Amino acid sequence: MTDQIQTLISEWDGENVIVRFDRPTGAWIVIAIHSSRLGPATGGTRMQSYRDLDSALGDALRLAEGMTYKYAVPGMARGGGKAVIHLPRRLNPDERAGLLRRYGELLQRLGGYFQTGPDVGTSPDDMNLIAETGAPYVFCRTPAAGGAGSSGPLTALTVFTGIEVACEHLFGNRSLEERVVLVQGVGSVGGNLIPHLRAAGARVIFSDVDETLIRRYQQEQGLEFVAGEEVYATPCDIFSPCALGGVLNAGTVPLLECRAVAGGANNQIDGAGMIEALRDKGILYLPDFVVNVGGAMGITGIEAMGWTREEARKRVVDSVRDALRRILALAEGENMTTEAAARRIAEMRLSDGGVEHDIRRDS
Ligand code: PHE
Repeated sequence: MTDQIQTLISEWDGENVIVRFDRPTGAWIVIAIHSSRLGPATGGTRMQSYRDLDSALGDALRLAEGMTYKYAVPGMARGGGKAVIHLPRRLNPDERAGLLRRYGELLQRLGGYFQTGPDVGTSPDDMNLIAETGAPYVFCRTPAAGGAGSSGPLTALTVFTGIEVACEHLFGNRSLEERVVLVQGVGSVGGNLIPHLRAAGARVIFSDVDETLIRRYQQEQGLEFVAGEEVYATPCDIFSPCALGGVLNAGTVPLLECRAVAGGANNQIDGAGMIEALRDKGILYLPDFVVNVGGAMGITGIEAMGWTREEARKRVVDSVRDALRRILALAEGENMTTEAAARRIAEMRLSDGGVEHDIRRDS
């Protein structure tokens, strides 16, 4: 093991890391199980090429921790985990299917200790393949295969709720009429967020790197487009990162010209002091793991707890609205950052055993 890998794992406060080399493809599979305290560790499977195994592992560890907090805030009986598949090269469809089926076998052996859904680089079709060997520990299969499909629409719904709460907090009114919202990334979450924003009367600006998506939203829908790095310095009311993580860093935070950040991407913050830097600039930051819970919460609710889709929509919106109001009140009352307040609320769940305990106490 490299020094870097030893440091990453020894300084991580999670339960287990499973690392497997998939010989036929040369891919590395990393499953990070951060916490199963509240229930089975659950989180998406991210599949892409990383610089090296160290960065793949680092990503898995951070993302898994985020999932623990994500499920703890609404009091879901789920723990946090994440899988990362580090691809050495482009795989053809057969190679990809083989890899996913072998990964499904690994999930099967874990017997539900880790359960998964889609994430960056994986789709409901991929979940179908993983589920061939990994069922019932796979969420978001396509509806034709018996699943609830993409988690994007439900995640977009809670991001929209977050944006409304930000407006309510900043402007005393949750209306988005004439507010300028900048959406970074118009894929499965950002693309589903845009219709909500437009229906609410917001002015939407977007950025993306995919030519097809740029054409769709710029030419067909007539939205204003900003290219690549210009996104950070673009004035707006709400900046909504819905693409990759790490976008709030020492290079970007000084540039921001927004009133609030509320987006769907996981792990938006990169680097110590960034949360405080946002606060000092007067920018309201809504913690990513609170805002983007809709997909993970809604789909596990639908597939594992029998919620109808309508019920899931209502539950995720109510839950996020309520959590954000509590977080904003706690942050103001205790003079702490919103991130610290959100973690405090999650820690309370984790230390008293979470939702089951609450139900017993209530009855
Ligand atoms: N990508 C989702 C997230 O980060 C992962 C997920 C989706 C997990 C659906 C479970 C079910 O929240």
